[in-house]
Amino acid sequence: MTSTAPSPVANIGVVGLAVMGSNLARNLASREGNTVAVYNRSWEKTETLITEHPEAGFVATKDYTEFAAALQKPRTALIMVQAGRGTDAVIDELVQVFEPGDIIVDGGNALFADTIRREAAVRATGINFVGAGISGGEEGALNGPSIMPGGSAEAWVTLKPILESIAAVAEGEPCVTHVGTDGAGHFVKMIHNGIEYADMQLIAEGYDLLRRVGGLTPAEIADVFAEWNTGELESYLIEITAEVLRQVDATTGKPLVDVILDQAGAKGTGAWTVQTALDLGVPVSGIAEAVFARSLSSNPTQRAAAASLPAGAEEWQVADRDAFIEDVRRALYASKIIAYSQGFDAIVAGAQQYEWDIKKGEIARIWRAGCIIRARFLNHITEAYASDPDLVALITAPYFADAVASALPAWRRVVAGSALAGIPAPAFASSLAYYDGLRAERLPAALVQGQRDFFGAHTYKRVDREGTFHTLWSGDRSEISAEDTH
Ligand code: 6PG
Repeated sequence: MTSTAPSPVANIGVVGLAVMGSNLARNLASREGNTVAVYNRSWEKTETLITEHPEAGFVATKDYTEFAAALQKPRTALIMVQAGRGTDAVIDELVQVFEPGDIIVDGGNALFADTIRREAAVRATGINFVGAGISGGEEGALNGPSIMPGGSAEAWVTLKPILESIAAVAEGEPCVTHVGTDGAGHFVKMIHNGIEYADMQLIAEGYDLLRRVGGLTPAEIADVFAEWNTGELESYLIEITAEVLRQVDATTGKPLVDVILDQAGAKGTGAWTVQTALDLGVPVSGIAEAVFARSLSSNPTQRAAAASLPAGAEEWQVADRDAFIEDVRRALYASKIIAYSQGFDAIVAGAQQYEWDIKKGEIARIWRAGCIIRARFLNHITEAYASDPDLVALITAPYFADAVASALPAWRRVVAGSALAGIPAPAFASSLAYYDGLRAERLPAALVQGQRDFFGAHTYKRVDREGTFHTLWSGDRSEISAEDTH
């Protein structure tokens, strides 16, 4: 039943009825106890939704005043509009018609810094503002996404049953938790997307090697991925990659992947992850390589100009195809562990910087189902943080340390082989370099410190004495001296 002159019958409202908003509204409406008010800037979208889904019993509203009147108190509105200025415009409207204690939830992919700003501004009116990361794409929105809400503890009390009712379920538990205050939810969603970029790039590098070195066809690689999806690599992204590779283009009869232009797009969340990690001083090298690989792919002018440059490569002779496939699988798994480890490092650093009490185990728990990076592997991350909530680095947890250790020979063969054969595998290679860097007893950073002190008197610390030192550098060794600058 729909109405255009609503009384306050809805316990939740959705603003923005493009596909994500419509699907979340339908998901909400399908759960026991929810009545959903809907509003969209253009009435057409609202009309289409209520006409196509009479079973949802939406309360359709034509303006913000009607929308607010349709909601029970505390009013709760979920905004699903394009991140950016559109979000600010909707918030401005809602603030006019809402009252203190009401709740505005932004479910878009907002930059967490914007969410911090908006939360502070909206809080000044007495209204709660919650930035909630929602992952799972269109299908997840409809059937159960992973939800990462920030905002106040007060708002969470009202939101908890509503969000739990629509979230994906992993082992009986809804994939939603109160991540932390103000922008914590969008921060964690951003890191999720950064990991998503790394995961996708690693899979793409594996595909490229299987194809160019292993000589497998896309359909054969689809079979390999389907097989991998029954083991420790089991994940949504591996599963859909098999589907993508199996797809045949209707017009040419070629594998569809071969007629898709090889220039990867990006909406920005991967770049935000890397920019934020740079600010926080956290090396998210696997994620960064994934972002840069998309940028490189999307520069046709440079690629065309460089296409005739020599490879200077050696042919990679694969004697045992199955052994090669297994090497690639292991390299992929080890690199994936690095990407998650780096992503969790960024979460820890962000939590420290912004004073969020983020429970890492809870994040792993809510990523087990519904979201794009859902994977069997998340159970191990959940377990790792359950047995040691203060784990210094995920890769040092026994399960992951063992997994990486057993993958090492294969991983090194794949990275070395790619370099020799002239096949780019930036995320595999940088993940391995990160691993070797982190475990190194001594790094050439000592030399970098010497260089910095040489040209800028930036000082250095010594391994054998406390204090800060500067050397009077000179070609004449006798004049070299170290002195405590304090
Ligand atoms: C999700 C996805 C979703 C979106 C990405 C796509 O978790 O459901 O991450 O948020 O598909 O933002 O990002 P790109 O267009 O940048 O690849």
